Amino acid sequence: MATNLDIIGREDVNDLEAILAITNSDVDAISHEVRANSDAIFTWDYERSRPALGKLYEKAKKSQWNAQTDLPWDTEVDQATVVVNNALAQGGGTILDPSLDVKGTPFESWTDDDWIQFGCESQNWTLSQFLHGEQGALICTAQIVETVPWIDAKYYAATQVMDEARHVEVFAKYLDEKLSGHYPINAHLRLLLDDIIGDNRWDMTYLGMQIMVEGLALAAFGFIHQLTTEPLLKQLLRYVISDEARHVAFGVLSLQEYYQELDSKEIRERQEFAFEAATRMRDRFLQQEVFEKMGVDVKDSVKLVMQAPDRAVFQSLLFSKIVPNCKKLGLLDAGDGWLRERFTELGVIQFEDWVDTGEEYERLDAIGEAPAA
Ligand SMILES: [Fe+2]
Ligand SMILES: [Fe+2]
Repeated sequence: MATNLDIIGREDVNDLEAILAITNSDVDAISHEVRANSDAIFTWDYERSRPALGKLYEKAKKSQWNAQTDLPWDTEVDQATVVVNNALAQGGGTILDPSLDVKGTPFESWTDDDWIQFGCESQNWTLSQFLHGEQGALICTAQIVETVPWIDAKYYAATQVMDEARHVEVFAKYLDEKLSGHYPINAHLRLLLDDIIGDNRWDMTYLGMQIMVEGLALAAFGFIHQLTTEPLLKQLLRYVISDEARHVAFGVLSLQEYYQELDSKEIRERQEFAFEAATRMRDRFLQQEVFEKMGVDVKDSVKLVMQAPDRAVFQSLLFSKIVPNCKKLGLLDAGDGWLRERFTELGVIQFEDWVDTGEEYERLDAIGEAPAA
């Protein structure tokens, strides 16, 4: 049986010291190579035997949009004003929770300008990580086209490659034209993407990317879409969300079928991978690079941020798609309910009965029924 140390490199999932010790020391690199260990599989069975995937494929063909022409790129974005408006709209006086006592912390001496700067950096960081994650999705779905043995899944995955290229394109353009700086990939996110790409079992690419990374992205995009007062970002996210919902549905539909064939040892390996992915993604949301940039002690800052009630809600909401989808796949309770215990430890089990994305994607479609004006 694998221990926490084997799976995530530390015994205590909340060991802050160990989490913060993982940093990106390669910030000036312009490329990063990962060895993919999986076989490319041809299938000679062209029969369309998976109608649910076929339906998703048809939907994807009709829901394409053009990143350059379908979004109002001429919208003026004053980032500092947006940061202030967003904070006001959320009812907070500061960017961080106003109820927090910052006495004796690195934030004690911060002026309003420091808080606004922090808000801008935080946004630069968040959108940069979305950008890198989208590139991860682009590479993973190209890999799925090669490795999945079913023709209906190859067809669908090909449409997702196009979707992900468009997502990389919109986030790169938004960062370049509307925000004030880029961040390199967060080390926890990179570790996870490397593990997903390097695994030689085709379904692990699905579990890591389609269920875990995309499930988290879908929740995060939804949250920011709701909160942001900036109309261009709002619309951009709305479009991206309708694509992402299909992507997660693709994962759920495919793995539901495939997991029927697996024995309990193989299912346990999937549970462990889901736990690893969940932990890495939670770790990355501590935004350690932003505090570094702001020149405050990272550990003290992270500790304080972790106490903010708003923050805790946001962090856990990120798992609101992942947990029900894992439940639908049978991963939560398989064996002795090992993953249920891990998700309880991570504080996210409360989402288990929320709607799963196998059904939700049609409701989230923004393009199919309402083409861009
Ligand atoms: Fe995407
Ligand atoms: Fe996606």
